[in-house]
Amino acid sequence: MKTTAIAHANIALVKYWGKRDAALNLPATGSISLTLKELFTKTTVEFSDDPAQDELTLNGERANPKDEQRAGKFLNLIRAQAGTGQFARITSENNFPTGAGLASSASGFAALALAAAHAAGLNLSPARLSELARRGSGSAARSIFGGFVEMKPGVLPDGSDAVAVQLHDETFWPLEMLILITSAAEKEIGSTTGMNRSAETSPYYPAWVASSVADLEAMRDAISRKDFQQLGEIAEFSCFKMHGLALSARPAILYWNSLTVELIHAVRGLRQKGIPAYVTIDAGPQIKVICLPEYSEQIRAALEQISGIRQIIKTSPGPGARLVED
Ligand code: DP6
Repeated sequence: MKTTAIAHANIALVKYWGKRDAALNLPATGSISLTLKELFTKTTVEFSDDPAQDELTLNGERANPKDEQRAGKFLNLIRAQAGTGQFARITSENNFPTGAGLASSASGFAALALAAAHAAGLNLSPARLSELARRGSGSAARSIFGGFVEMKPGVLPDGSDAVAVQLHDETFWPLEMLILITSAAEKEIGSTTGMNRSAETSPYYPAWVASSVADLEAMRDAISRKDFQQLGEIAEFSCFKMHGLALSARPAILYWNSLTVELIHAVRGLRQKGIPAYVTIDAGPQIKVICLPEYSEQIRAALEQISGIRQIIKTSPGPGARLVED
């Protein structure tokens, strides 16, 4: 059967950075994210006797062998569950500009999990889809759900409780996020390598893991009470701890460029003028500014003055992964 699914990207407000099990891709800590309406991946999967191996077409072009193998390894999990040996043709497209330096693994693996499971005849619950998506990429487990989502680290060795749950749907609190693209260059150190190196070499890693519990609690509380200041402060705290951890690895990992730093200062400057805005940054140099809708145009206008920004994308809370007509 041929199946098409859409899944949206998400940005973590409390970051995932470190694994408790590499083979099953189990996170060492929980994380909380916002699924984004404007950024999504659309993926079509068809299993058949025809291809001699899994074939992946990404944004209209045959993917490189490394990405194709990663997708094939992921499909092995579905083949094992469905009891099929057939290979698949996968066609995947991101609606966000390629080369924008935005991570596509979260929306990519969530869309692939849903489309491939359905195409293989599996009828999985959202929790089981989240577990499956996690095997592709930890952050993908969260993109199964819309709105505000919490990833549980779980305690079971088989990882069946390391799944995401929805805290509130996308209509709960209409926050906005401005994504400022500071560079289109490929990131030098991917998330998996970066977090593994941080866990293996940073003396701060145990403190990062231990302190995440309080951050998750405070973030859940901030979201449920719609306390923007608390949400922003905890998001920055988690983000800067993660980057401090990466900086304290050996060799050190620095994801920021000079424009990233300039924008952090600019957002702090806006706050000093009474404009509520907070930053979060993932494993790359792009800045995401968390804001309330009534301030977003003012914030955009102020930040646009800073030279070197390649693109600004305004985003808002979006829905979970779903099947669509081809
Ligand atoms: C900084 O989900 O890409 O975006 O599980 O190894 O594929 P793997 O990692 P990935 O890591 C995401 C890291 C982050 C923070 C986050 O999204 O929570």
